[in-house]
Amino acid sequence: DKAGHKHFMAKEIAEQPGVLNTTLVNYLGTDGEITLPDPGIDFTAIDRLTMVACGTAYYACLTAKYWFEQVARLPVEVDVASEFRYREPPIPGRTLALFVSQSGETADTLAALRYCEGKADKIVSVINVPESSIARESDLALPIHAGVEVGVASTKAFTCQLTVLLMLALRAARDRGAIDADVFADHVSALRGLPALMTHGIDRSAVMQATARKLAEARDILFLGRGVMYPLALEGALKLKEISYIHAEAYASGELKHGPIALIDKHVPVVVMAPKDGLFDKTVSNMQEVMARKGKVVLVSNAAGIAEAGDGVWEKIAMPDCPDIVAPILYALPAQLLAYHTAVAKGTDVDQPRNLAKSVTVE
Ligand code: F6R
Repeated sequence: DKAGHKHFMAKEIAEQPGVLNTTLVNYLGTDGEITLPDPGIDFTAIDRLTMVACGTAYYACLTAKYWFEQVARLPVEVDVASEFRYREPPIPGRTLALFVSQSGETADTLAALRYCEGKADKIVSVINVPESSIARESDLALPIHAGVEVGVASTKAFTCQLTVLLMLALRAARDRGAIDADVFADHVSALRGLPALMTHGIDRSAVMQATARKLAEARDILFLGRGVMYPLALEGALKLKEISYIHAEAYASGELKHGPIALIDKHVPVVVMAPKDGLFDKTVSNMQEVMARKGKVVLVSNAAGIAEAGDGVWEKIAMPDCPDIVAPILYALPAQLLAYHTAVAKGTDVDQPRNLAKSVTVE
């Protein structure tokens, strides 16, 4: 049942404020502490994290790497499951292996988990289907509570994965004494503010739709992001190519001049995901490099970022202001909605894109 929406994907995007609230309620106590299901995780017994997943779940891991490293000061390795499993990497002692999978049945991710059995100190999974193989074979399975996801392109599962991973990073930071109590409390209230923030973000859908009609004309689209926004750029490009069939690639903004800038001309839109944060000035100079080559910049930022970017930006998408820590979760919305509206403008089969399956149970 699409609940009045044209596609399951639209319904699932719109559901995000509600399901994120459910996710939060399941982990955040009224005392402001983050509670994990039994048997929990002893983060003082862990020195490093190995995160493994595929596709969108892999981008959730890439995002979480910034959180675990910056907030909890835990070194993190992230890999796609199909590479990890055959590379047979050494797993040092005191390693927590963390697998992220919406379905819990992805063949490569399951094989990577089995490879870690008997090697990692603890095997934890972040899943949407509690009775799935990956959940069953983990020492601890953390449900994301997204509800059934029907659209082949993952949307609400991604933001719920991010939310659980952020809570896990905060819990690790607290257990390891890596975070001040007031900073921890600020981050927890940022999490509590997420559902309302997502509602405000979804309210900007019409602006994204107008931009998407223009993107639908393009043959190639680049996405740029820096820091924690880099994985979001990757997610935006993946979402766009899988449902609109437009060729899209993402780069870390700082990599632009190491090659991809050669692709830029007046036919190439460049979507820049960049709230005004500590790295914004660097992103502005990357945008200027694009505009100097007549590339069409679509800037996704907050009001302050958009004001600072000045003239020459082709399309501006203003997102609500938000605490930096939750920005990747909010900015998942423009990644999803730009792809969705572009696909609708092109008339593709949004919920059942060609050649794709919801759950990849063969390698
Ligand atoms: C993209 C998408 C896929 C999945 C990937 C992993 O929109 O849905 O990239 O994220 O196939 O699937 P799960 O999370 O079920 O392991």
